[in-house]
Amino acid sequence: MTQTAPAADLVLPSAPGAGAPGASGGWLWHWRAWQAQSRWAATTQQIAQWLSGVSPGSTELLLIGASGGWMMSSAWLQRFRCVRAFDLDRWSAPVFRYRHGAALQQSRTKLEYQQLDAMRYLPQLLRTYPEAFVLFDNVLGQLRFVHNRLDAAEAQLHAITRMLRGREWASVHDAYSGRVAPSASGALVVPQLGPLQTVRQRSVAGALPQFSVAERRWCAQMGVKGAWLDHLTAGIFPAGTPIQHMAWPFSREYRHWLQAAWVRA
Ligand SMILES: C[S@@+](CC[C@H](N)C(=O)[O-])C[C@H]1O[C@@H](n2cnc3c(N)ncnc32)[C@H](O)[C@@H]1O
Repeated sequence: MTQTAPAADLVLPSAPGAGAPGASGGWLWHWRAWQAQSRWAATTQQIAQWLSGVSPGSTELLLIGASGGWMMSSAWLQRFRCVRAFDLDRWSAPVFRYRHGAALQQSRTKLEYQQLDAMRYLPQLLRTYPEAFVLFDNVLGQLRFVHNRLDAAEAQLHAITRMLRGREWASVHDAYSGRVAPSASGALVVPQLGPLQTVRQRSVAGALPQFSVAERRWCAQMGVKGAWLDHLTAGIFPAGTPIQHMAWPFSREYRHWLQAAWVRA
């Protein structure tokens, strides 16, 4: 399937070094995702279930960090009249079209996919598409890897949430990630937890006393082993937003604690 031209009403420069393999981009990422489909299936199903409860007012979607849509639900995308997807990675658009193109054609959903540093150009995207619903698709947790300093990553996350004030948006992203015992079970019951705290230190295990009893039980259920990485996203949803928690068995020994929420305007 061929790629459509960039959105005519929004032509922005591509990211410098776009397409270079990164933590979750490049053909290696797609190969890993393809191989991991069955291990990721339960989490993909949980994300789909969460998305089925996200019913935004807009029929237009800005999908940021869309990648190949490996964990995205075609059925949820079909509710939109137009999906504008963005990713730094040049391999993502053809993979996304392969995975979701037929379903989107069936629902007559227009798909535009642009290789773009959508974080850098977020203000322009929000201005250009003032009515669109915005979904950050497992990308906000990656920002800590972009910056050399943690406070710079936190400042960017705060700037993003400020920009989104008054807007309807959602995000699924890493809150924490780290090693688990190989025997840790893949499928977990999703806990009811309140908003999380950013512990900032690299160690979740070391910071466990800051967690509630339910959160600590959840850590134990996930099989948390040693120091976990704080992705600095714990506090980005406005107070009172209902948050869904999920455990993503990224590999046999490495798990991501995902949080997802829909922020209404
Ligand atoms: C974990 S993957 C997302 C997986 C995706 N949700 C799926 O279902 O396959 C994160 C994606 O965010 C993209 N990304 C990271 N920073 C970005 C940025 N500034 N602008 C656009 N995409 C970005 C990466 O290239 C990567 O493809």
